[in-house]
Formats: sequence, C-alpha cells, structure tokens
Amino acid sequence: MAKVKRVYSCKECGAQTPQWAGRCSDCGAWNSLQEEIQTPQPASNQASISRHSGYAGEQKSEVQTLSQVTSEQAVRWTTGLPELDRVLGGGLVTGSVVLIGGDPGIGKSTLLLQAMAMMAKTSKVNPLYISGEESLQQIRLRAERLQLEQTPLDLLAETHAEQIIATAHGRKPQVMVIDSIQTVFTELLQSAPGTVAQVRESAAQFVRFAKSSGTTLILVGHVTKQGALAGPRVLEHMVDTVLYFEGDTSTRFRILRAVKNRFGAVNELGVFGMTELGLKEVSNPSAIFLSRGEESLAGSVVTVIREGSRPMLVEVQALVDESPLGNPRRVSVGLEQNRLAMLLAILHRHGGITCSDQDVFINVVGGVKLSETGADLAVLAAVLSSLRNKPIPRDWILFGEVGLTGEIRPVQAGEERIHDAVKHGFTHAIVPAANAPRKAIKGISIIAVQHLSEAIDALKQAE
Ligand code: TYD
Ligand code: MG
Repeated sequence: MAKVKRVYSCKECGAQTPQWAGRCSDCGAWNSLQEEIQTPQPASNQASISRHSGYAGEQKSEVQTLSQVTSEQAVRWTTGLPELDRVLGGGLVTGSVVLIGGDPGIGKSTLLLQAMAMMAKTSKVNPLYISGEESLQQIRLRAERLQLEQTPLDLLAETHAEQIIATAHGRKPQVMVIDSIQTVFTELLQSAPGTVAQVRESAAQFVRFAKSSGTTLILVGHVTKQGALAGPRVLEHMVDTVLYFEGDTSTRFRILRAVKNRFGAVNELGVFGMTELGLKEVSNPSAIFLSRGEESLAGSVVTVIREGSRPMLVEVQALVDESPLGNPRRVSVGLEQNRLAMLLAILHRHGGITCSDQDVFINVVGGVKLSETGADLAVLAAVLSSLRNKPIPRDWILFGEVGLTGEIRPVQAGEERIHDAVKHGFTHAIVPAANAPRKAIKGISIIAVQHLSEAIDALKQAE
C-alpha cells in the first residue's frame, strides 16, 4: 500500500502545512487547521483510490446523449416500518446512502434496529448492523425489550473503518448500518474519532464501498449540541438522502423528516411514538396533535398544514398580554420569529389592530415546526382571539398565506386540506378565495376570503 501523506489544511483559506499549528500562517485564522489526507497527483489518483478501497478495474466514462441514456427503475426494499418507507420516498433504494441525524437519545438506534430486524425477518435481504457505540450484549438487551431477539440479524461491534469494510466485503450484506459515524475511525488519519476529518474521511470510505459494491448504506450521525460541526452536516453533500429524527425527549412523539432526498419528496414527515416496546408508528398524526379538551379557548386555532405528501392538522396557540417592557416580547416556538414580526405588522397595517404594547407568544402544539406559509392566517387568528379574549369555535379551521398587502394568498392542495378537515369533524373553514372548492363539500361551510379584513369580519361573526 502506498504511503499516505497527511497534511493540515486551513478550512478558511485552504493553505496546507505539514504540521499542526494553532493559527494558520497564511490567513491568520485561529484554530482552523484540520488534518487531511494529501490528494495524490492526478495520474496516480484513480489507482490510489482503488488501492485504498480494494477495487480494481476503474471504468472510463463515455459521453452519451440524454435520450440514449437508459433509465433503470430503482429497486426499493420495504423496511417493515411504513412511516419510514414513506419518508424515504417509498422504501429503501438499493445502492443508496442514507444519513440519519438527530440528538443523542432520540431513538435512532432503536429505529434502525427495528427496521433491520424486520428486514432480516421478512424479506430476502440480509442486513448487517454495525455498532460502534454499544456492545453486542447491549444490542441484545435492547432487542429483547423490542421482542426482536429471535430475528436472524447480523451484528458487528467494530469501530475500525478498514476492518468494517473488509468484513462487509466478505459477508456482502445488501444493507449496512453504521451506528454511529462519529465512533468509527480510519487508520489513514491520526486524529481522534469524531473529529471533522475522521468523520468525513471514514464516511467517504464507506460511501465509496457502498457505491462500488451496490450495498445500501445507512449512516447514523449525532447532531452535536454546539451547532453541528463534526455532526451530520459535514456529510450531507456526500449522501443521497438525509433524514433528521427530531422531537422533544420529554414527550413521546418523534418526527422523522426528510431534508434531502434524491429518490423522493423532501419535507416528508413520519411520526412515531416512543413506547416501552420501542417505536410505534402513528399513522394519523392529526389525532395526537389535536388532542384538545371539549371547550373552546381563546388563543387556540387549528390549521391544516401540508408536510410532504400528507395534510396534517395542528393547533396554533397564542398568548397576547400587556407588556411591562418598553420593547414588547415576540416569542415563537415552532414558527420563525421574523415571520411572526411580519404578520403582526400586517395585522396592524391592514387589519387596523395593534399589538405594539403587548407581548406576543406563539406556540405550535406537539413540537411541530411550521415550515410553510399556509399557517399565516391561523397565527393571526390566534393572536386576535387571545388579544380580544374571544374563543374561536372549536369546529372552525383556517389556512392561507397572508401577503404584505394584506391579501390572502392561495396555498398548495387547498381542497385536499379541506377534505382532511372534514374527516376530523370541522364544520367551518376560512380559506383563501383561490382555494375555495368549485362544488360544495358536504359537512363543511366554506368562507372564502381575499383580504385580511374579510377574514377578521368572518371571525367576528363567529364569536
Ligand atoms: P436510542 O435509540 O438509544 O437513541 P440514539 O441512538 O438516538 O442515541 O434511544 C434511547 C432512548 O429511547 C432511551 O432514552 C430509552 C428510550 N427507549 C424507550 O423508551 N423504549 C424502548 O423500547 C427503547 C429501546 C428505548
Ligand atoms: Mg444510538
């Protein structure tokens, strides 16, 4: 094997030095030098890559016309967890690389152990679960808890990247899980496991192995508390699919979100509940995010958002209270702060309602994050309801984007949202005029609005 040369390169300016230093001698940035493997000369480049990973026979690429390129239907495996399949875009694509990120303790290992055990049990796939964090005994204990200890799942406790690849070569698993990428190390670098250089280089080796052997690879990455420096962020560009597993560890619910997917829609959500018996799928998330009491309360409004391919009902709460401060607070959980400030300005300018001497708090129930604008109208309705202390009837629902001129703009899949609301027993909906269905929908009366002032009038009549 050719001798590998290590260099330290500055992540600010790219300068390289053979020795580590606290400060880059070129650009003067502090603490910016990272260990790297020196890229060999172009002529020997391919040869050295195939030597590293043990593959020979590099093929020369040829130019082809787009119309001549044959498309191969991606083969997908079901993971046995329909929610996970949906977030992946309909199953695990063979030969793809998936990164699952999330806070420590959120349930990544549990999710993957469940999925791999199901795959080993039901299909002809033979997955290999590699853990760098837990011993085989610990995994066995977890499997007993999940009542999966009888499944023929292959396990390996190993942290040495080259060793893992050698084992994978021998066993040829179709699916390989590395839990977690922060614990593995490659002997090519001297830095400790978990550093940016190690994470990046060992992930690159696994990806190279996966792509050349057709193995489906699932990498687990912890998001570090201080911004995700050595975390999954540095790997996002290398992989096909990035999923984030989020949720409040104090609540039962966990949300799996696709933030990048070469084989499916992004922003697709999967909802799970953590129980004593592992993760259970929640196939009707609206029901849990909407578990409200019987009474109508001021400041609470339900809206229907669309995450990925599925509409979902969520409750938006507002508390508007007289502020003792000269500069009133605007605090929002689950909604972007700037968006709240903008909506309040629109409410003032186009609705004639001022909150300038009030603290405004917004909370989206259930830890949901609103990433689309369809909830604008509901946020304003909640603010208004709390400000006036007038509840909005429980069976009313609102959605629509609010523009800077006070116009109510349409959102995607309006009719589908209305149908979802009907399913959950809502009888009145305030929707953008452009989203109003042409034919009446049974069970719900639609109030179509074009401007914020019309929506405010409609809400007044509801009281
Ligand atoms: P884990 O999968 O180890 O998290 P990660 O791999 O993301 O770090 O999840 C650990 C948490 O899940 C732990 O706090 C215990 C809880 N848990 C349950 O509540 N029920 C279960 O059946 C299992 C296996 C774990
Ligand atoms: Mg884990």
